[in-house]
Amino acid sequence: MRSKAHIKSHPIHPILVCFPLAFYIGTLVFDSLRIIKDDVAFGLTGQYLHSAGIIAAVCAAIPGIIDYTYTVPPKSSAKQRAATHGIVNTAVLLIFGIALYCKHIDHFPPYIVIGLEFIGVVLTCYAGWLGGTLVHKNQIGIDVRYASSGKWKEQYFETASGRLEVCAIDELQVDQMKLIHAKDKRIVVARTEQGFVAFDDRCSHKGGSLAGGAMICGTVQCPWHGSQFDVATGAVKAGPATGKIPTYLVTEGEGKVFLML
Ligand code: FES
Repeated sequence: MRSKAHIKSHPIHPILVCFPLAFYIGTLVFDSLRIIKDDVAFGLTGQYLHSAGIIAAVCAAIPGIIDYTYTVPPKSSAKQRAATHGIVNTAVLLIFGIALYCKHIDHFPPYIVIGLEFIGVVLTCYAGWLGGTLVHKNQIGIDVRYASSGKWKEQYFETASGRLEVCAIDELQVDQMKLIHAKDKRIVVARTEQGFVAFDDRCSHKGGSLAGGAMICGTVQCPWHGSQFDVATGAVKAGPATGKIPTYLVTEGEGKVFLML
């Protein structure tokens, strides 16, 4: 799925997350050296890294929240994983915030601060592992393009009922898809050799976005585990999915394509 927070198709969140990760680890290392070497210079560096880590984490969270809201397919296994990723990162931010506060309390035991930072670093590694799974397995932020896919197309509508004008007839080439957001529904409109079709964007296996997959010869393949569906009937052509996907009526007229909801 193409990221909503991107620069020329490059998702911003994965670019930014390396900064808080590096700063958090640096904070733990320099605060530990401050104790081991008994040198305040290490402590001062740790202090700067600590503040930088918190600021960088907040900056990285903004495109992350945008992607969680608009890019990760709803009601999918990735949505749950992304929610856990966000909760763990928020917990890390709180832990480092508390540790920073504790540093300013006179005679506060430094070992407790180090302990908090260590827990924060372990948790941030776990959050990073979840984030990596979201990118490499769930393909969040990856703009998968196949031979006839053309440019990514997406359109939003306020309503989820009636007759929606979704594209001009010549807007889509054969085997090209367009993702339609009709209120909270996500529907794929696609052009096949036999004409236009529309089907649910949600794979019946674990909720992968079919608009992020590949469609060839009237068959769409889910990008997550490879299930294939007949785009005209919604029937399963290949598993692991077992349930068909809903399809919708599409009509053509006056050079335009209409989705009937
Ligand atoms: S989510 Fe598993 S095949 Fe689509």
